[in-house]
Amino acid sequence: MPVGAARERAGGHPRAVPAVYEVGPNGAPVDETPGTPPPFEPYRVKVVERLPNPTAAEREAALERAHYNLFQLRSDEIRIDLLTDSGTNAMSDRQWAAMMVGDESYAGSRNFTRFESVVRKLTGFPHIFPTHQGRAAENLLFSTLCRPGSVIPNNMHFDTTQAHVLHNGGRPVNVATAAAYDPDLDAPFKGNVDIGALTRLLDLEGSEKVPLVMVTITNNTGGGQPVSLANFREVSKVAHARDIPVYLDMCRWAENAYFVREREPEMRGRSIAEIGRAFFDLADGATMSAKKDGLVNIGGFVATRDADVAARLNEAQILFEGFTTYGGLARRDLEAMAVGLEEATELEYLEHRIAQVRFLGERLSALGVPILRPVGGHAVYLDVHRFLPHLSDEELPGQALVVEIYREGGIRTVEVGSLMFGKEGDGGGPSLELVRLALPRRVYSAAQIAYVAEAVGRVFARRAAIRGLRYTHRPAHLPHFTARFAPSEEVAAKVP
Ligand code: F0G
Repeated sequence: MPVGAARERAGGHPRAVPAVYEVGPNGAPVDETPGTPPPFEPYRVKVVERLPNPTAAEREAALERAHYNLFQLRSDEIRIDLLTDSGTNAMSDRQWAAMMVGDESYAGSRNFTRFESVVRKLTGFPHIFPTHQGRAAENLLFSTLCRPGSVIPNNMHFDTTQAHVLHNGGRPVNVATAAAYDPDLDAPFKGNVDIGALTRLLDLEGSEKVPLVMVTITNNTGGGQPVSLANFREVSKVAHARDIPVYLDMCRWAENAYFVREREPEMRGRSIAEIGRAFFDLADGATMSAKKDGLVNIGGFVATRDADVAARLNEAQILFEGFTTYGGLARRDLEAMAVGLEEATELEYLEHRIAQVRFLGERLSALGVPILRPVGGHAVYLDVHRFLPHLSDEELPGQALVVEIYREGGIRTVEVGSLMFGKEGDGGGPSLELVRLALPRRVYSAAQIAYVAEAVGRVFARRAAIRGLRYTHRPAHLPHFTARFAPSEEVAAKVP
């Protein structure tokens, strides 16, 4: 990204957008800015939660007990938790107030009516079915539309999306552009679909085999990178020409819209809601985890324009989630979701959100830490191959790095690579080995983020001494949640 570009894009919120602070070949900053200024938080604190502060010895004991899998840690063993931005958001005072007007009727709750009208207004989709979270929406959609032998294209499947396609006998195929697989390439829309690859796949498989095309905005698996409106328009054209419906995985749609506003001239200056609507108008439906851009701790939905599909989704919803007007949630959750979905479109909130993620990325870059560029919407991703080039893939370098960052600063992160997706890479395509530092929304301060950057910088400084890990237990499905590991020397020592 050219120096100064971020500043220019800031548009009226100078404190929220850090100056660009890039590092030259000798490790010195190429910009003369004396440090990246922290972004200004457009909120103040009303309730506080004490942060745990485990000692080095406690962290070491926790790692052993958890078999070096950070999903197995207890939250009181963690100082800063960047495992995920999902369901970890801080709700606003308006959302907490909304919880108090919960109408816990089994059927016909007024909270459902409110929720439905907000989602209809934002998306234009007529049929909306609440679910308890995103993968439940995926369960309803894929159990309804995906059959054994189906082929599901997606720019890049998230792990749960891939798992639901496979669970229903389908074959997930990733069709992101080559740019998505080059962590060092700075391009504005690395989430885009490769239209040529999609066209060839649809021509090869035909509409009988492809029940839907999915596009994930932003592309979480590929670094939280946005999809352009122009690209999505092409996807919609190619699929609709073959009578194939297009569904959005819209978990982070507001963050995607922010990047579109910033980077795509035709949408410059438009509101987030308008940009979102431009995407939704091209789609036939969507799955949503409101635990992301719905600013809640639990909730989601699946939506469609197709009345026949809607009837089947409704049946599946009642079977798996609950009645139409609550779908696996307390009704008060629907009210909080209605407020959160609208708050997530507020420009000042999003400016800070994106600036905060960039702040972390720029602090890390200033320390020479290799990150996936450009910085995405919800997380900074470390480029594992460049961070730990001395470790082979068998030594699970991503997981080894996750362990070291916890050991150093009590910071929990997550591997997004061959451990999460499997070596075969069911969705296909070359492999990316990343460690994700996901920022929960409205949760951590700039000082806490600076602490994270410093800790990761210290790990980077001692990277040559970092050793790999080996599996001691490897489950068949979604292995990253429950796999067990041991330092590779230890396992080697036990082998006669
Ligand atoms: N789609 C995408 C792109 C996601 O990032 C997620 C969840 C889901 C679907 C499933 O939603 O968790 O509500 O069931 N991502 C979380 C993460 C777990 O950490 O990235 P869910």
